Amino acid sequence: MTENGKKRVLSGIQPSGSLTIGNYLGALRQWVAVQDDYDSFFCVVDLHAITVPQDPETLRQKTREVAALYLAVGIDPERATIFIQSHVPAHSELAWLLTCLAPLGWLNRMTQFKDKSAKMKQDSIGAGLLNYPTLMAADILLYQAEAVPVGDDQRQHLEFTRDLAQRFNHLYGETFTIPEAMIPPAGARVMGLDEPTKKMSKSEDSEYHAVYLLDPPARIRKKIMRAVTDSGREICFSDDPEKAGVNNLLTIYQAINGGTREEVETAFAAARGYGDLKKAVAESVVGLLEPLQERYNEIMAEEGYLDDILAHGAARAAAIANATLAEVRDRMGLLAPRSHS
Ligand code: TRP
Repeated sequence: MTENGKKRVLSGIQPSGSLTIGNYLGALRQWVAVQDDYDSFFCVVDLHAITVPQDPETLRQKTREVAALYLAVGIDPERATIFIQSHVPAHSELAWLLTCLAPLGWLNRMTQFKDKSAKMKQDSIGAGLLNYPTLMAADILLYQAEAVPVGDDQRQHLEFTRDLAQRFNHLYGETFTIPEAMIPPAGARVMGLDEPTKKMSKSEDSEYHAVYLLDPPARIRKKIMRAVTDSGREICFSDDPEKAGVNNLLTIYQAINGGTREEVETAFAAARGYGDLKKAVAESVVGLLEPLQERYNEIMAEEGYLDDILAHGAARAAAIANATLAEVRDRMGLLAPRSHS
């Protein structure tokens, strides 16, 4: 609980690609909704992005792009704190202190590490990839966040964070708030258009996998018209992997337009085939993204605007993070530096 009686929430997205409609419908939209009720911290986790190789110039550009998109989707810098993870050095420092406490066995069990490292050559897997969850724990624990909006794929990392916080509290005394996962309402899990059994990802190379938030309307339409479906013609929600493509299109449609599953299915009862469904989904997505892109362009056009918000956000974040870090350092027995006069 903070001074103003609000619970604190923290979340982040990696600038490891272009944000997709999956990021919006699955995460960002919830962030916008919680900012009134929670003391909110939203960061762009650039230090997480470098756990796999990144092109420096692209990383810098994507970091600003993601931050500007936070604003464009409606996160209000007056209410929420928006910042770049690496602008608050306490994240790196607490991550090291926690690394010294994190059992290797726990880290080795993380499914994301196992999946990502399985695709890489042994010699190119950086130790940062293994330590990724420890950095994420530092992000959350520095702010004593009570609630963390995360998707299914990050649940295990949040469990790890809770376990690590408990371990610290047990060894050194009550220091960290134990965070809870905040699970977004159902129906917001968007799958890849080209491979609808796999979650839509922002770091996928194939051209028809994802709709990006900054895709122009013509590209959005083209991508959705090419979405993988099946050879049937029944437009209904379904758990059948065969129908995953149609299910995904309906999920996107419902996430944007609302209504119950029955209402959505009824809306397509008279459709002549998947083409009609795709057209309706494409128009919904275009309608959703056009105003967002307009705001994005305005934000980027205003010289200094974004960077001012980020400087302000980093200062606000650092004030809280540094206080937690000082307490952690003290509890672990690190000698406090005396300021030089
Ligand atoms: N690991 C998260 C993801 O890939 C991103 C992340 C980093 C995060 N730090 C966080 C999410 C802290 C929530 C809280 O989605």
